Amino acid sequence: MCGIVGAVAERDVVPILLEGLRRLEYRGYDSAGVAVVGEDGRLARIRCPGKVQTLAARVATAGLRGRTGIAHTRWATHGPPSEANAHPHQCQGQVALVHNGIIENHERLRREQEALGYAFTSETDTEVVVHQVHRHLAEGRGLLEAVRATVGELEGAYALGVIAASEPGVLVAARRGSPLVIGIGIGEHFIASDVAALLPVTRRFVFLEEGDVAELTRERLRIWDAAGRPVERPARESELSAEAVERGGYRHYMLKEIHEQPRAVAETLEGRLSGARVLEEAFGPGAPALLEATRQVHIVACGTSYHAGLVARYWLEALAGIPAAVEVASEFRYRSPVLPPGSLVVLVSQSGETADTLAALREVRRRGLPALAICNVPESSLAREADLTLMTRAGPEIGVASTKAFTTQLVALMLLTLALARRRGLPPEREAELVGLLRRLPAQLEEVLGLDAAVERLAERFADKRHALFLGRGAHYPVALEGALKLKEISYIHAEAYPAGELKHGPLALVDAEMPVVAVAPRNELLEKLKANLQEVRARGGELLVFADEGVDVRRDPRGDPPVEVLRLGRIPDPTAPVLFTVPLQLLAYHVAVLKGTDVDQPRNLAKSVTVE
Ligand code: M6R
Repeated sequence: MCGIVGAVAERDVVPILLEGLRRLEYRGYDSAGVAVVGEDGRLARIRCPGKVQTLAARVATAGLRGRTGIAHTRWATHGPPSEANAHPHQCQGQVALVHNGIIENHERLRREQEALGYAFTSETDTEVVVHQVHRHLAEGRGLLEAVRATVGELEGAYALGVIAASEPGVLVAARRGSPLVIGIGIGEHFIASDVAALLPVTRRFVFLEEGDVAELTRERLRIWDAAGRPVERPARESELSAEAVERGGYRHYMLKEIHEQPRAVAETLEGRLSGARVLEEAFGPGAPALLEATRQVHIVACGTSYHAGLVARYWLEALAGIPAAVEVASEFRYRSPVLPPGSLVVLVSQSGETADTLAALREVRRRGLPALAICNVPESSLAREADLTLMTRAGPEIGVASTKAFTTQLVALMLLTLALARRRGLPPEREAELVGLLRRLPAQLEEVLGLDAAVERLAERFADKRHALFLGRGAHYPVALEGALKLKEISYIHAEAYPAGELKHGPLALVDAEMPVVAVAPRNELLEKLKANLQEVRARGGELLVFADEGVDVRRDPRGDPPVEVLRLGRIPDPTAPVLFTVPLQLLAYHVAVLKGTDVDQPRNLAKSVTVE
């Protein structure tokens, strides 16, 4: 969840490190720091609580310069955000280190080191790592050997960047359980938590494998695998452009990403449809046999990606007639899930680095079951380790609140549904009809985005509220869940979602004039039941905001007591309606957050990529 950058070059690396941190800030943003081997051969370090811009100002004032350096933006796990807990950590002015991950045996190492006289200045789990490297340096080892000895003693997850005053032109990196890439420049090398951080300086990357340790100098890159053998890892060219991770003319990344959805969905469909059919080959070699053998589907994911899985369960059961279960990864990995032969486990993740989702994948593979990853980052651990992958092509998502990743995940899951449904007897005419609906989605998304100004006006009704209730039925219940998650995540309004049929079983007790109720009302067989639920809310004085299909006869009554606002999306077809109904809920959360003045792209306490448990 933290972001790491490092560089070894002939030029001053400080601007590269700061730009890298800015691009990684979505991973964590409660404190930041940078350390270099200065011109005088000494380690120099600047750290501060707060964001990268605060750090950049301090660095400029201090005139920090160096040709070998590391930097870090933190998402606190052990110890609150403070200068003392910010990385890089250093030991006795000899060695400095940045870390992403969690060291599980830090307490034991700390006791040992304290007994040896090491003084601790932070509450972090990381500080033991820098002392341990120092211990090994003091035994007479070089930096590389000291780091290799250290990682052999660590339990838990780590991506590390380490520099030492004794070896000014050397940067040592290591990873296990947390992502780390190496960027290859001309006469310079870099490390970072993801490629986006380094796009201004290189497009060529080497992806470290689990347990790898690497030594980088200006001219040379050497890598050893987990067993200590020297290895060659292939260099790959990234297709991402530096502009893809810019904000463009938008006020926030989140707004840009909401508006990118038509294109993102079109790209996710590109090459996956042929005429009126879904191409099974889109899932990778071996997919036809695997789809044929599939008897049930288990979807495992976290957060928004989990909500995408919940929508897909309705599709898989209704369209493909296949049993489907959906579970959050942090539960799945610690249960003893029964996965009979014929199970296909589908891991859904935007980042492909979510610790719990990755652990679930590894458990599934350990059991010898097939795993399909639906993922947005081609170089991610999830995409590399799964048997089959279906990449969503949303492009980089920087806003912490996931938007275009969700709608493209839905599209990918619909492709999977149709591929399975065909093998289970879906008539070609019905497949053609559903493929037609998929093809219409980009244009329909454009139309729904046209409601932006109307949603912005409605958002004013929410800005002073402390709670909100979201209701939906069928596949729109997870859409309501997603709408509530967006609102709480970025506006800090407490929001809950319920299947509308559950209202009388408890949540109705909460409804009064202070508890606005947002309902998702597509025109389908559940509409009359949903309307009855809305009457129940009105009768209790609850203000209603209804996102409705054109044909839904819910009357607008903005001055009524209680008021009812209705926003119509146009004629929305089933079963792709969840993709479209999601958009106004994203816009609602966005505009409420803007009105409340919160940090939309980097909401408090959260990070984009949850690479620790
Ligand atoms: O990268 P992933 O899709 O695996 O991330 C899962 C969740 O952490 C993520 O969806 C989170 O819930 C978002 N911040 C929600 O907007």
